[in-house]
Amino acid sequence: MTDNRENALAYAHKNKDNFLHELKEVLRIPSISTNSENKADMLHTAEWLTEKLRGLGMENVEIFPTAKHPVVYADWLHAENAPTVLIYGHYDVQPVDPLDLWESPPFEPTQRGDSLHARGASDMKGQVVAVIKAIESIVENGDLPVNIKFMIEGEEEIGSPSLVDFMEAHKDMLAADFCLNPDAGIMDKKLPSITYALRGLAYFEIRVYGPSHDLHSGLYGGAVANPANALMTLIAGMKDENGRITLPGFYDKVRPLDDEERVELARLPMKDDFYLEATGSSALWGEKSYSAVERTGARPTLDVNGMLAGFTGEGAKTVLPAKAMAKISMRLVPDQTPDEVYEQLKQYMEENAPKGVTWDIKVEHGGHPSISERDGVGVRAMAKAFENVWGVVPLFTRGGGSIPVVAEMQNILGIESVLTGFGLPDDRIHSPNEKQDLPTWYRGIDALIHFFYNLS
Ligand code: BES
Ligand code: MN
Repeated sequence: MTDNRENALAYAHKNKDNFLHELKEVLRIPSISTNSENKADMLHTAEWLTEKLRGLGMENVEIFPTAKHPVVYADWLHAENAPTVLIYGHYDVQPVDPLDLWESPPFEPTQRGDSLHARGASDMKGQVVAVIKAIESIVENGDLPVNIKFMIEGEEEIGSPSLVDFMEAHKDMLAADFCLNPDAGIMDKKLPSITYALRGLAYFEIRVYGPSHDLHSGLYGGAVANPANALMTLIAGMKDENGRITLPGFYDKVRPLDDEERVELARLPMKDDFYLEATGSSALWGEKSYSAVERTGARPTLDVNGMLAGFTGEGAKTVLPAKAMAKISMRLVPDQTPDEVYEQLKQYMEENAPKGVTWDIKVEHGGHPSISERDGVGVRAMAKAFENVWGVVPLFTRGGGSIPVVAEMQNILGIESVLTGFGLPDDRIHSPNEKQDLPTWYRGIDALIHFFYNLS
């Protein structure tokens, strides 16, 4: 190779301990975007990032305030005749509850074997730091073969509510050839992968109200509708015996899988065994005539995330509750939209709610699904980088999770994203004992060094 990548890789290998030390530093800041009491920690994390970005020699380093949490921006645009990469990241994390299930405190990063445990280690401070350290390894050797822009937000885990306005307002500043988005992980530590589709999300709270107050279930049970029963019946009716969702028009915009893609998905190593082991469930369940890979990647779902009604304390209390609540989310696939799904849910409730109860729906958040290009310069450079480090050709896969910014970047900035990362399916993201696999993280830094050189 004629470029400087061997020197950059040598720097990365020499500085492994320093890199890990800095990752631990940022993992100690409890940047939970949904908690108002962590507001100062959010700013503190943004400031930590700007310091690191300045240290890389980035220019125009700035913290942009938004209605909630700030966006960090930085750029370096001095590579001639080379592409401009917009690097996306998020520095916010999910809440840590239930706290008592953590084996070590969520914001005291702790190594056990090959794993570094902490909230955000995998999703996604680990990935943001990997990119920063790859670029550091390159610039420390005196060059940078591509133009770089960073956009690191603090609201991804709450649905990125400020990012659309931010991107609309800064189209020129954010203009790029493509985006590198390392928030999607890879399939297995031995099987690097690039994600070409993500599901969208529509999240609601449904409340059902019945009698004006809680009732004695003997005196009045049988005389009036019980809102808890009514809500459960309504939810049960949202799927039929084949696991298909019954909301009116729900599948109208769902793009069917073509035969070619089904053959391709069937070749992925994720068979039923994988899902049984990963979930700890005794059997798989889902929409008839589709494999688990298809159901999680290319088909929509509807799930209860939580529910609350009546007496839930110790023992028994004979009561007919006055109200009931459920949190329900749908994962969406192209070309469904969260707005249309809201209308479908409303229509279903109007048509099916029994007499004697009233209801309302609160919209929590939504995000559009996306399908990304598979043959752009960015994807090719990343695929080559995985070959450089892992020695194998990466797999192409659909991801079941949601990263709303991917579709918004297509719409607002007109750019595609390269979706990958160095998180693994068993990292327990959003759960107690989240971890990052460190050998994969170091390999990831090497792969990113190759990626930037492969682009030049
Ligand atoms: N990094 C995840 C999404 C992800 C995980 C994509 C694994 C592909 C593979 C992201 O941080 C996330 O959790 N997103 C939320 C989005 C929501 C809050 C709008 C999700 O999917 O629940
Ligand atoms: Mn997440």
